[in-house]
Amino acid sequence: MIVVTAASGALGRLVIAHLRSRGEVTAVVRDLARAPEGVPARHGDYDDPASLRTAFDGATRLLLISSPELDSARRIRHHLAAVDAAVAAGVGAIAYTSFLGADTGATGLTEAHHATEQAILASGLPYTMLRHPFYSDPFVPRVSDGAISSGTGGRKLNTAFRSDLAEAAANVLTGAEHLGRAYDFTGPLWSHPEVARALGVPYREVPDTEPGPMSWINGLVRAGALERHTGDLERVLGRPAETVAARALTLTANATPNHP
Ligand SMILES: NC(=O)c1ccc[n+]([C@@H]2O[C@H](COP(=O)([O-])OP(=O)(O)OC[C@H]3O[C@@H](n4cnc5c(N)ncnc54)[C@H](OP(=O)(O)O)[C@@H]3O)[C@@H](O)[C@H]2O)c1
Repeated sequence: MIVVTAASGALGRLVIAHLRSRGEVTAVVRDLARAPEGVPARHGDYDDPASLRTAFDGATRLLLISSPELDSARRIRHHLAAVDAAVAAGVGAIAYTSFLGADTGATGLTEAHHATEQAILASGLPYTMLRHPFYSDPFVPRVSDGAISSGTGGRKLNTAFRSDLAEAAANVLTGAEHLGRAYDFTGPLWSHPEVARALGVPYREVPDTEPGPMSWINGLVRAGALERHTGDLERVLGRPAETVAARALTLTANATPNHP
């Protein structure tokens, strides 16, 4: 039986949708009213370690989807409670949705992921690390005032769509060849000027004017920090990953009213 935590979230629901047709899967959610339909569900709250121990009972494979908690210390507590519960329940193997760079970095975004990877390695459980990039979904450029604009300096991003990362997770959970591995998942590299060209509109570089998460990410992009592509996602999917330009074209086509 495959058990998936945080199964009521956007990523968890996509993973469950892939696993539903492939065999026994159980959704673990903190609120049973929010459980995905069509599969058995159990209560499991990262703030309640005992609930996790019960929720993981009988799991041959566990997908630990990272907690959305922003406070690093609390997020680490969430993840370590899940790893401890996985050991206590005797799960067969654990896959963990980590973040790129968590193997060697432990600052800011990677701090909790680094601590969790270390705890998984120390646990002795068979594992697969699924290191995610930023999700593409909120980054797909939209045409505004006839153009696409960003503060990225035209540099490339290695974001990937949740839908592809979910399918890759399902492949990992249903195959034996992924155990003992760490995957650095990156999407096909893309840039805002490239997407503008694909949509046939001009690109405008607009400097960030105020601090915030997007200007922080734009700073990383301008420094070339997101220009690494590994091929791990395509290899685990067994097909090309979806491009941001393709999604932008689809969204634009769907948003364009049909005039008879
Ligand atoms: N790489 C990226 O760009 C990126 C972006 C966003 C998030 N993330 C990370 O990836 C994870 C999955 O992303 P997502 O898009 O699926 O996030 P999401 O839609 O916000 O889902 C978060 C999930 O965590 C559950 N959760 C929250 N607190 C919990 C607790 N105390 N115990 C158990 N479950 C709890 C939520 O349950 P409820 O349904 O009950 O709220 C929900 O199922 C996030 O949690 C976050 O760690 C990564």
